[in-house]
Formats: sequence, C-alpha cells, structure tokens
Amino acid sequence: MLVSHLLFGLSLALFAQGYSSKDHDDRIKTALAMDTSATGASTTPDGRVFLILPHVDGTTGPKIVEVVGSKHTLVPYPNVQWNSWKASTDSAADAGTKYVSTNAQRVGPDGNLWVVDSGIPSQFLNSSKLVSFNLTTNEVERIYYLGDVVTKDGLLNDVRFNGKFAYLTEYAIGSIIVLDLETGDARMVLRGDTSTVAVIPDSADGQFLISSTTGQPQYIHADHLEVSPDGRYFYYQPGSGYMWRLETKYLNEALHNKTTADLLPTYTKPFSLTPATGGTAIDAEGNIYYSDIDRHEIRYIAPNRITALLVRDSRLEWVDAMWVDNHQRLWMCASQLNRGDLFVQPNNQPSTITKPVYIYTIDIGHNPSPIDHA
Ligand SMILES: *[C@@H]1O[C@H](CO)[C@@H](O)[C@H](O)[C@H]1NC(C)=O
Ligand SMILES: *[C@@H]1O[C@H](CO)[C@@H](O)[C@H](O)[C@H]1NC(C)=O
Ligand SMILES: *[C@@H]1O[C@H](CO)[C@@H](O)[C@H](O)[C@H]1NC(C)=O
Repeated sequence: MLVSHLLFGLSLALFAQGYSSKDHDDRIKTALAMDTSATGASTTPDGRVFLILPHVDGTTGPKIVEVVGSKHTLVPYPNVQWNSWKASTDSAADAGTKYVSTNAQRVGPDGNLWVVDSGIPSQFLNSSKLVSFNLTTNEVERIYYLGDVVTKDGLLNDVRFNGKFAYLTEYAIGSIIVLDLETGDARMVLRGDTSTVAVIPDSADGQFLISSTTGQPQYIHADHLEVSPDGRYFYYQPGSGYMWRLETKYLNEALHNKTTADLLPTYTKPFSLTPATGGTAIDAEGNIYYSDIDRHEIRYIAPNRITALLVRDSRLEWVDAMWVDNHQRLWMCASQLNRGDLFVQPNNQPSTITKPVYIYTIDIGHNPSPIDHA
C-alpha cells in the first residue's frame, strides 16, 4: 500500500514538473522545415548535411538524402539507384547494393558517410549491412555484410566507432555486434542479456506504443549507444531506457575470444536510470545527451553520472538520433515517430504526424567528440 502510494506520488510529481513550465524555449532554432520526418541528421565540417527519412507518414521516396542549396532540396544520396529498392521486383543481389530498410546514418571520424541498413535478413541475408560512402567521390567505400552475424532474427539499429572497431546495436533479439573495420570480422555479443533487452515497451507522450503490425506493445531492444571520447567506455541501452556501461577493451577482446564474450554480462555495469529515449549524442567532454520522449526534454549525463536538463519544449516530439556539429550545436530531429504508421494511432488513422516536421538546433557550447566525428 505504502509502496504504491509512493510510486503514484512520484509519477505525478514527474509529470507535473514536465508540463507546468514554459512551453517554448527561445534557444531552440529551426534548421529545416520538412514535408516528412527525419530520424537523424549529420553534418561535415564544410557544411554538408545528410538526413535519414523513415517515411512513416504514408510518403514514399529516398531513404538517405543530402540537403542541397538555399532551397534545401533533398537529393537522394549517393544516387537514385541506392534508393530504388522494390521488394516485389528486386533480387537478392539487389538487396546487397540498395537500401532495403535503413535505420541510421552518420558521418564517421574518417569523413565518410556511414549507413546502417537493418534490411530484411529473414528474406535477404545481404540486406543487413553497414555501408560507407566516400564523401569526396560519393562512391561506395566499403560494404560490411552482417546477415550471417545478426541471423534471420536480428535487426541492426545504429553504429559508433572506436578506432578500427565499430559497435552496432541490434534491436530485434537484443544484442551488440562488434566489428573489426579492417578485417570485416564481426561477432554478436550480449545476446538477450539484461542490458540489451527492454524490460517494458517503448513509450512516448506518456503512452505505450502499440505496433501496427502485431497489435502488441512495441519493445525496442538494444538501441542507443555512445563511446567515450577517450575510447575507454561503451554506453548502450534499449529504447525504453536504463543505460549500461562496458569497458571497450572487453568488447574488443570478445571479438576473437569466446571466453571473454561469454563473460561480458559480468563486466557490464548499470550507468544511468534513463527513460524511454528517442536518440543520443556525445560531446568532446563526454556528456551524453538523450531525448526523453515522454516529457519532450533533452537531458545530459556527465561522465560522473550527474544528469541535468538541457531544454524542455513541447515542440521536441520524439527527437530521434541527435548530432553535435562543429559549431557547437546539437541537432534535434523532432520526428514525431510515435505518430507514424509503425504504431497504432487514435481512430485507426494511418498517421497523425503534423506538417511541417521540424529539425531544430540548440547551442550547447561543446564540440563533437573527435573519436565520433570532426
Ligand atoms: C552476399 O554477399 C556476399 C559477399 O559478402 C556474396 O559473396 C554473395 O554472393 C551475396 N549473396 C547474394 C544472394 O547476393
Ligand atoms: C575518399 O576518396 C579520396 C579520393 O579518391 C581519397 O583521397 C580519400 O582517401 C578517400 N577517403 C577515405 C576516408 O577513404
Ligand atoms: C581469452 O579470455 C580469457 C578470459 O577473459 C583469458 O583467460 C584467455 O587468456 C584469453 N585467450 C586468449 C587466447 O587470449
């Protein structure tokens, strides 16, 4: 009795705090007003901007685009061909050289554009891949096929870099993929671990999300990830929250040492009691920014675990993958993903996304982490 009263009081206090303050924060600037949602932006030091478009509002079109010119034209990147996947007519070979189901994009520390394609590994194993594009030539630099590693049941979510290693979250089973970028060797670790599996469904605006495919509450397993600027720590969490921290030396060793791989659950430690999160980013000081999609907030966790509010604003509707640019701005795509066709909408409407859909920035006074990107 006492416990339930206490919990009730706590949750009320949280929400009262969330909704009683100023609605709009003038520090937030509009970078782009769009006809469709973006779930991530990334930039180069010379000002190029790339976006990933999930098309969850009934629209069709390219998945990865570059924003070009003063009219902000969205140009398919690297070309129309990569963006031309058609499940009904394309072959298994096409699934290896086109975007099938992209989930993340980012400019890497090498200056290439990296795209994570979850694909449909249950049908086309080579559709599950990590692709890098050389931004000078706009040609494919390398494709890492990861279907054998994620298996038919796994779906890649996002990627981060640590020297010659890349780490990817996999959100359908709940696992982490360690990849050697030189050799292409990869291994799935922490499969089904407490740290990679969501304990409750994802929620946004205070509501659990119901999958429009299954009609069931949507669990999103291993999802967000960051690497500390010194390369020592790997941070990760499921969509619904609870962030964990693991020393990268164990992850790296686990790639070729099964004993170490099996021991990873004993090396990983709880890091922060994060809530349902739309996306994260890390700065040069190691502050991890995360979007609280129930409360329309961006918070940041200092390396000593102390968490503080950066901004709260009702316009921050499901801020997905974030990005720190070289002008010390945090990019926030207010994707409204929870209002899209992936999830059941009020009155069974296909989508309740309101247009335009905005991409915002806010000054944070910190540079990007050099291990992450320039
Ligand atoms: C999948 O990719 C590998 C290269 O990693 C290639 O050898 C194989 O032919 C591809 N399979 C299909 C069906 O395209
Ligand atoms: C991109 O291509 C240019 C021109 O061929 C080359 O000089 C550069 O090293 C490439 N970048 C990467 C990161 O491979
Ligand atoms: C593999 O890891 C285990 C424990 O982490 C260690 O005892 C062993 O020496 C390692 N094996 C090799 C070949 O490095």
